[in-house]
Amino acid sequence: MPVKFSIDSLLNSYFERTPRSRAIFARAEALFPNGVTHVGRFLEPYPVYVERAEASRKWDVDGNEYVDFFGGHGALLLGHCHPEVTAAVQSQATRGAHFGASHELEVEWGALIQQMVPSAERLRFTISGTEATHLAIRLARAFTGRRKLVRFAGHFHGWHDHVAFPAGGAAGILPGIVEDTIVLPPNDEAALGEISPQAKEIAAVILEPTGATFGQVPTPPSFLHTLREWTAQHGVILIFDEVISGFRCAPGGAQQYYGVLPDLTTLAKIVAGGYPGAAVAGRKQILEVLDYRRVGDRIHSPLVMHQGTHNAGPISAAAGLATLRIIRDTDAVPRANRTASAIRDGMNAAIRKHGLPWRVYGQFSDFHLYLGEDAVSLEDLYAGRVSPGKLKGSAPLELIHQIRMGMLALGVDFINWPGGLVSAVHNSQDIDRTVTAFETLLQHLAPAPVTEGGAFAVSR
Ligand SMILES: Cc1ncc(COP(=O)(O)O)c(C=O)c1O
Repeated sequence: MPVKFSIDSLLNSYFERTPRSRAIFARAEALFPNGVTHVGRFLEPYPVYVERAEASRKWDVDGNEYVDFFGGHGALLLGHCHPEVTAAVQSQATRGAHFGASHELEVEWGALIQQMVPSAERLRFTISGTEATHLAIRLARAFTGRRKLVRFAGHFHGWHDHVAFPAGGAAGILPGIVEDTIVLPPNDEAALGEISPQAKEIAAVILEPTGATFGQVPTPPSFLHTLREWTAQHGVILIFDEVISGFRCAPGGAQQYYGVLPDLTTLAKIVAGGYPGAAVAGRKQILEVLDYRRVGDRIHSPLVMHQGTHNAGPISAAAGLATLRIIRDTDAVPRANRTASAIRDGMNAAIRKHGLPWRVYGQFSDFHLYLGEDAVSLEDLYAGRVSPGKLKGSAPLELIHQIRMGMLALGVDFINWPGGLVSAVHNSQDIDRTVTAFETLLQHLAPAPVTEGGAFAVSR
């Protein structure tokens, strides 16, 4: 039985602190599914509505302050409204939001990405990470002339049809796409060996190099090396989805940190400094399928046509450039890592004090909560010896909602994994406040059974 919360006092405090959010949510429910605009923002009994944000903090419409670990879904390594990023955006906004034309900033932005990301010989901008993985998979298929895609259970690559279903398929996905997709258990070398006979049909392998959900199910580095060898041996394109890990694990991303170079890389979030923007980067030869080709006196269409009204928008380019320059030139990455490590240590100490089997883990500027029944060791976890199913998807959603709501009532916003993404501007006060709030949350744990509908069977 999962641990249950005696949540009444925190729930009451949440209600008392957030009347305006509750009223806005009542309107939102009549507009959006579950009242939200992203599944990750769904929260029972209702989410808070945020009015403004600065550095590591944000404030809701009722004036409550939160230490923010949602971090713009990972886009804000430098925190909210970094002065240099904001100045770059403001300056660009007065010069134009969209030129319908090439502009110099996109070249500077692209050149900086090329300089920072080791495998980026060429790149193409898109708007979102979903678009980037979609394009990368299409490039791999066009380049190799093969159909199949290999990916790993639990690894997230956005919501387009080729990546948004578990093994076996899901509602709304065409059977042909399911047939051409091989979903392997993560980190499983034997499973990789088993598909070798069909390798000639495989266009690409895509994965989050840090492991599912930025290391919620960690990938042992040895598996990355194995994958690199296997894909090279079979002429399969290796795609690193660095939408979160890019510019966060290291200025050059997970590929720089682990010393394993993919053929294609997808980038989003930090790449555009918190504004909409993403990219596919990689081997020149592969990106050439996007080129118009001149044969004699005729121009031929590219093998892969790629459009997008907002590709490389000047405001995103300005924000991305300002952000990436800071990441290249300062200690932003190690600073965020150190802060995250202190938060993990503090939360684990609180867990030990309360005698729970839970764990807080992570390897970079992140933390994940393991909410299982049996204790796991951090060594086993990082070595890939804990079964992936235990680490991702096993915690009841009600428990996750209760933890998130309880932390909000205590002034901290966790991401829905549950866990957090830490920025370079979270400071020692943020660490103390988070650890203290988490300790208070644990004091509200009780072994009481939850009735049907969970603790939130309380009327709204
Ligand atoms: C690893 C990874 N890939 C792809 C995506 C999709 O990116 P976007 O939300 O920009 O479409 C995400 C988003 O969280 C992600 O974490």
